[in-house]
Amino acid sequence: MDITIIGLGYVGLVNAIFLASLGNNIVGYDIDKNKISLLREGVVSIEEVGLQDLLDKFHKNLRFTSNYKDSIRNADNIFICVDTPSKEDGSVDLSNFYNVLDNIKNASNKDQNIIIKSTVPIGQNKLTKQYLEKDSLFKYEVISFPEFLSQGKALEGLINPYRMIFGVSSSNGANVAKRISQAYLTKKVPVMITSSENAELIKYASNCFLATKISYINNISQLCKACGADINKVSKAMSLDPRIGSEFLNAGIGFGGSCFPKDTKALINIEQRYGVDNSLLKSVMKINDDQISIFMNEFFSKFKRLSNLKIGILGVAFKGDCEDVRNSQATVIMRMLLDKNAKLTVYDPLAMDNCENLFSRHQHIKYVDYISDVLKDADVVFILNDCNEFKELKAYDFISLMKKPIIFDGRNLFKLEDMIGIEYHSIGRNVVLIK
Ligand code: UGA
Repeated sequence: MDITIIGLGYVGLVNAIFLASLGNNIVGYDIDKNKISLLREGVVSIEEVGLQDLLDKFHKNLRFTSNYKDSIRNADNIFICVDTPSKEDGSVDLSNFYNVLDNIKNASNKDQNIIIKSTVPIGQNKLTKQYLEKDSLFKYEVISFPEFLSQGKALEGLINPYRMIFGVSSSNGANVAKRISQAYLTKKVPVMITSSENAELIKYASNCFLATKISYINNISQLCKACGADINKVSKAMSLDPRIGSEFLNAGIGFGGSCFPKDTKALINIEQRYGVDNSLLKSVMKINDDQISIFMNEFFSKFKRLSNLKIGILGVAFKGDCEDVRNSQATVIMRMLLDKNAKLTVYDPLAMDNCENLFSRHQHIKYVDYISDVLKDADVVFILNDCNEFKELKAYDFISLMKKPIIFDGRNLFKLEDMIGIEYHSIGRNVVLIK
């Protein structure tokens, strides 16, 4: 299949390279000229397991351009993969999306299939068709094809997806959807071809359900702390019931990233517009914000003045083993500490460059190359995401390197019984004190 992919962020780039590896001919467009020149040199601009190898092997099936006319003019199938961030009021900022539609209107010279992968509000598929066809000589078949991949496991999510959802409004649209699903060569995956409204809502409802699950367990973690129970034991036992399941049941400092916060706020806004009760999702966001305050109140009640402390930070990305610091709970906590004049020594295996850019080389942040540099002579260490490398640490590492081993673990990476000899603060569990 010949496919043009507009927007080579996580969704666009991973889909482009994956589809090319299956023999499809892909044109990838991005507005960012640096990204395009790197890709032309064969360099993948994001950290995703296996992606660079696939590009090395299948680059012949890919052509990258930053000329939108060139990418659109003769395309039969155009995937829109640009980001749709939140506005101040939580509603969806569609300016990138409409820029793409304007480019299509300017450049196309034939009927085309437009496949929406960006997360867009309910009704946007139909509005897109109207917008494109207004004063145009051409017809556009607009298909909603929401993305469900997770950063860090993106290729795995395309090779073995849980489901493929297409939103269409005609039988021709359904045929295009079938051809697209075949281009992914995925075996035995449920494919649902449904209305565009259903497809658009399935994406929001799925992300917000997972966000709700996290806030639910975080709310129970608050109760655990109050009554002396242990959230890890409680969630472990709950997860043994297959109706509940073990995924997205880890208590912590809350969800971040470029999807859950944005999509939950968007659905709150959408429900309000339709006059539907949005109090559940508002609570999901409130609990998510409270997780940081509760965690930091525990820290600030112990440490009143921070300027003389060496504070270590392990993990700045919004989740472990990922480079993305957008909406990361870790960066919120770092700002709270910096506002109180703290000096931070920071390590994350993948996200250091992005963190440095975010904090514009803040003079109170020192970036180091090893965990041991964070621990060495530190007065206190924060663990803020669940990198595999951090999980390997043992109590002895903290005891032997730190000035006094005091840990604030925002991701509950260790069992309480393994933290003897450390002052260990975590989420929804009793504090372990040094005897
Ligand atoms: C999420 C969804 O999982 C994907 O299915 C979806 O396609 C994607 O959003 C999207 O809309 O593009 P992602 O944002 O990459 O994927 O990250 P997740 O692995 O879902 O984690 C989100 C946040 O929840 C992270 O901050 C993570 O630390 C937190 N989390 C996750 C918890 O606090 N507890 C958990 O048990 C699981």
